Amino acid sequence: MLLDDIMKIALNRGIFFPTAEVYHPIGGFYEWGPIGSQIRRNLIEAWREFFVDLDETVYEIHGSTILPHEVLKASGHVDKFVDPQVTCTKCQEAFRADHLIENATGENVEGWDEQQLSQKIVELGLKCPNCKGELGAVTVVNTMFPVKVGIGKESPAFLRPETAQNIFISFPRVVRAVRAKPPFGIAQIGTSYRNEISPRRGLFRVREFEQMEIEYFVLKHKDCDSTKSTPCDHHEECTFHNFKSLQPFLEVKLNLYTVSMQQGPNNEKEYETHSVKEALDIGLLPNQVIAYFLAKEQVFLENLGISREKIRFREMMDSERPFYSASNFDCEIKYSFGWKEVIGNAYRTNHDLSTHGQASSNMKAFQIKQKGFEPVPHVVEPSFGVGRLIYAVLEESYRQPTDREYAWFAFPSIVAPFKCAVFPLRKDFSPKAKKIQEDLIKKLKIRVLFDNGGSIGKRYARADEVGIPYCITIDYETFENDTITIRDRDSKDQIRASLDELSELLQMFWSDPSAFHEELEKRGSAKSS
Ligand code: GLY
Repeated sequence: MLLDDIMKIALNRGIFFPTAEVYHPIGGFYEWGPIGSQIRRNLIEAWREFFVDLDETVYEIHGSTILPHEVLKASGHVDKFVDPQVTCTKCQEAFRADHLIENATGENVEGWDEQQLSQKIVELGLKCPNCKGELGAVTVVNTMFPVKVGIGKESPAFLRPETAQNIFISFPRVVRAVRAKPPFGIAQIGTSYRNEISPRRGLFRVREFEQMEIEYFVLKHKDCDSTKSTPCDHHEECTFHNFKSLQPFLEVKLNLYTVSMQQGPNNEKEYETHSVKEALDIGLLPNQVIAYFLAKEQVFLENLGISREKIRFREMMDSERPFYSASNFDCEIKYSFGWKEVIGNAYRTNHDLSTHGQASSNMKAFQIKQKGFEPVPHVVEPSFGVGRLIYAVLEESYRQPTDREYAWFAFPSIVAPFKCAVFPLRKDFSPKAKKIQEDLIKKLKIRVLFDNGGSIGKRYARADEVGIPYCITIDYETFENDTITIRDRDSKDQIRASLDELSELLQMFWSDPSAFHEELEKRGSAKSS
């Protein structure tokens, strides 16, 4: 199974591994190793550049991971952030009741209540997956981690279950600090915690994870229906139906799987493909702000090398939606174990700002008044899981040991842990190779691997194994005419280039890998001499 292969490679090559492995690890906690840390860092930077730095309406904050009880009471998490649990009466192991049923039947039972789930477990005769013991009745449990803050006089608090809440409670300060006017977004990258009943599938369902979230604030006209893409009468002044930032993305193609497609007679189809413009015109998307984020996500995922046909946007059924959401389009990726959510897109209305305004008795601080519009801004939230995205990149980039004697990764340059490697053909060429490595690092501010151990073939193999896109070899000719070879990981082809043009060529190949083969045609193929 691909998942098992990748988990094994992740351990062996230091991509990620369980926390406290030398003791008895608790499920759902992972460490990023040296390779994984680089991939993680590159992914986060790529996200920050695309979603924050290139959008002057988005401001980034960085908040505390512990939040007071009042915050999560007001947001609804204390009462509603629950999962259905069933416990084995013999071994006492706890399981997610809905997942046991889904695994047995393939049916999506998200949103079912305790009674429905208990009844289904009895009907199906499900037993404990561990010891085959009898399962008890289904109950719901809150999945936040409570913490007590302070010594002596303790304040109840929780590890935050989503980064979003820091954004909502920081809203009054941020608005004043940057004089923000809707539409604008507040972004945050950080760790969140959920006490998952049964963590599973490696990075997939974990108890500590990183999120990259944007809360995008928009004023809603009092008469606008922001859950319908049909323009309202206030077309010109209404962001939901006239969002200027969407213009460059109107022709982006999206694979959409709406509620009616999921329930209709053709529901075996995995999606329908429409341009953003078409999807809005025929009412498949709720509003232009959601459409904008779906389109940007599509572009971002394709830049990470995820194939188009493995990306879809699934509209959630009413019963599946989180308690705060009026409309949800999950971005799902087709992993080796099926379609799974990697980005949640929720239209959270003005639920969170309003509840914090009420609970803190400070409603004014959460309002932006404009005639004809609701005073508390509405919010569209794209929410990315870092671990799930990295796992998608690992699966997509993984190459079985078929044409090579080893498994390797075809990482796109944007996430590769090293952008290139430098090899001296002979050990005594090392000083020259080191100088080239140092010059590249200094000039391009990138990570470059240096390796002078073993045969050149072994070094190419080691570089492929961790997905380094280009290898530069310093050989006899380097000392004669200042040229090196550049090897392309995916084709194993090589070209010869002068040292003067090296950094320019690499930058060109990183941004457009097909440029390597154009250069190969011009120059002819080379081998290290
Ligand atoms: N903020 C949405 C989520 O964490 O699921």
